[in-house]
Amino acid sequence: MKLKTKDLLTLAELTPKEFLGLIDYSIKLKKEFKKNGNKPILKNKTLTMIFQKPSTRTRVSFEIGMYQLGGHAINLTSNDTQLSRGESIEDTAKTLSRYTNCIMARVYDHQLLNKLSKHASVPVINGLSDSFHPCQILADFMTIKENKRKLKGLKIAWIGDGNNVCNSMIYGAALSGIDMSIATPKGYEPNKTVVKESLKLTNIELTTDPFVATKNADIVVTDTYSSIHNNNPKRIKKFLPKYQVNSKLMCTAKENAIFMHCLPAKREQEVTSSIIDGHQSVVWDEAENRLHTQKALLAALIRA
Ligand code: CP
Ligand code: NVA
Repeated sequence: MKLKTKDLLTLAELTPKEFLGLIDYSIKLKKEFKKNGNKPILKNKTLTMIFQKPSTRTRVSFEIGMYQLGGHAINLTSNDTQLSRGESIEDTAKTLSRYTNCIMARVYDHQLLNKLSKHASVPVINGLSDSFHPCQILADFMTIKENKRKLKGLKIAWIGDGNNVCNSMIYGAALSGIDMSIATPKGYEPNKTVVKESLKLTNIELTTDPFVATKNADIVVTDTYSSIHNNNPKRIKKFLPKYQVNSKLMCTAKENAIFMHCLPAKREQEVTSSIIDGHQSVVWDEAENRLHTQKALLAALIRA
């Protein structure tokens, strides 16, 4: 499949048709992979990954995904490159574009991705910034589609911190016609512009009451209170005990509701072990689907 955009930095670059097309293409690649393995559609293609922050899922799924499509990935931490000695993003982007077919970067400041995208002639993928995590949401919506057989008309309850993953999930909801109710403490709401833009396409409710959010929800989602860029133990006091996904809260969602978390999780903080390990949890499918959705994305961007 083809995408109009060169890069994927937020999800807002995609049309609803492209977003839904990527989800369906991911499901197709997953089936193909489980049956006979994938065809080497990225043979001789390379991905360069830059990590300013740690990662388990993103690092491993991108590298293995490239390998399974016949290509190759290399991994750089910021300290490995001349970025650590002050070489500019502009010059780094231009140099890497002469070697590689795609750049994936996990960064603190989202502006750095905008600069990479502007100066790289090859596609740039956001592997998480302080503001967005689009690759996670592709995997999450694939997981929802696999479980619920549809997207449009469902309701997501987001509980806890209105963070980078939440911002991208709002875009995902808008692109697929899912309603979202977001329960956060005051001052921890998602990005206002993202909410305003997405309201044009779907219903986004902001509340401080987790029980309002979970009412009639098909999907209950949370994430850590302490993101990598926001790792202050004092934050936890703002969230606990009210914003924990536990059996009492989960009971107020639909009976067949699923529980989602991008991982890594802090058990007994944002979610209890009984829920994350329970029958409604699809967190391992989410983690697996990073592999399949990123293969679809890489194929769509690199082959475009
Ligand atoms: N969910 C996610 O992006 O995990 P990692 O930080 O391990 O990559
Ligand atoms: N919100 C978390 C997500 C980690 C995948 C963070 O930014 O650390």
